[in-house]
Amino acid sequence: MAAAAAAASFHTASSRRRDGSRPPSRVAVSSAATSPTASALMRVAPESLRCVSGSLVAVTRKRRVAASHGAVDYLTSVLSSKVYDVAIESPLQHAVKLSERLGVDLWMKREDLQPVFSFKLRGAYNMMAKLSGEQLERGVICSSAGNHAQGVAVSAKTLGCDAVIVMPVTTPEIKWRSAERLGATVVLEGDSYEEAQSYAKLRCVQEGRTFVPPFDHPDVIAGQGTIGMEIVRQLKGRPLHAVFVPVGGGGLIAGIAAYVKRVRPEVKIIGVEPSDANAMALSLCHGQRVMLEHVGGFADGVAVKAVGEETFRLCRDHLDGIVLVGRDAICVSIKDMFEEKRSILEPAGALALAGADAYCKYYGLRGETVVAITSGANMNFDQLRLVTELANVGRKRESVLATTSAEWAF
Ligand SMILES: Cc1ncc(COP(=O)(O)O)c(C=O)c1O
Repeated sequence: MAAAAAAASFHTASSRRRDGSRPPSRVAVSSAATSPTASALMRVAPESLRCVSGSLVAVTRKRRVAASHGAVDYLTSVLSSKVYDVAIESPLQHAVKLSERLGVDLWMKREDLQPVFSFKLRGAYNMMAKLSGEQLERGVICSSAGNHAQGVAVSAKTLGCDAVIVMPVTTPEIKWRSAERLGATVVLEGDSYEEAQSYAKLRCVQEGRTFVPPFDHPDVIAGQGTIGMEIVRQLKGRPLHAVFVPVGGGGLIAGIAAYVKRVRPEVKIIGVEPSDANAMALSLCHGQRVMLEHVGGFADGVAVKAVGEETFRLCRDHLDGIVLVGRDAICVSIKDMFEEKRSILEPAGALALAGADAYCKYYGLRGETVVAITSGANMNFDQLRLVTELANVGRKRESVLATTSAEWAF
């Protein structure tokens, strides 16, 4: 019955825009689409967690598992992952100016240089490449806040299968247009990632398509984990203090942590979240997955209200903590990257740089080697103006703080 009701609420927009392009379909949300697991989660406000920028939000662990059975599985899955049919081994580049400014050796893992300008094709392809001929024949469906869509679309094109992509209506145009250009059918649905996901799951049942989750699946996590494998190889055994990883649903950091903690357990794995999209930090504090009452959408790539079950389990076991950063700090890091490499990162893509910067300053790190994952570059051109303004505010705030602390020192 629920499926039938949702099917009735679905319609495909047939109108064309002035430029002749067809807008993606827009559909009504059915309340029956809400997943019971998600609705059972404790609801918390992002503001309920306050901490000084750069300080680590600790992980509440039920048990510390140094080498769990799951981690052994992930090690094998990462090593046998198929991502290189579509992804490149991204460069690990030295951030010369930032290193000098911070007094550390900062390296950037350039996932923004992937063919679809983010790491998301690794996990999507690793899962889809394992589907049977019959499953590929029936096609796939996914929900995405942006970059996963392009990962699924490029993987579907490579594997020759049909793909439907459901994205929230807030998705930047550059992201849904790119998925469409890659041959996928794009449907804009719901105001949040969760609403888009509920709808995609219903259609998956109705149409017999395979659902490709953006983060909470072992093959997706293992695909993202190949980034950890590359970092370890590229560093050639050099000492490494920490890897900073942006966190949305947690697939990227779960994969990296599961791999790195097995082969280099001394390396800290630190997640970075925006202060108003801190579902992982709050879940780790409470010792259970929580649902954010609302989520900030500035870094749209990581704007999720609840992290995954499997990603949470891995993060609880392996993470050293989470750093929270504000919008201004993210914009300063976008500017830093531009000054460093003349590249423009999207907000979620610059998140790890902002976290590394704040952490190094807060803990007064000197001479250590740290890596930050620059995870994506799919930014709407129109957003650049706001980023420039906020970056200037952020820089001014930093100089005020620097002056104040210099005064305190005397
Ligand atoms: C650019 C970018 N960075 C980071 C993330 C976070 O990845 P995850 O959801 O696996 O935590 C995403 C997710 O889509 C992303 O698009």
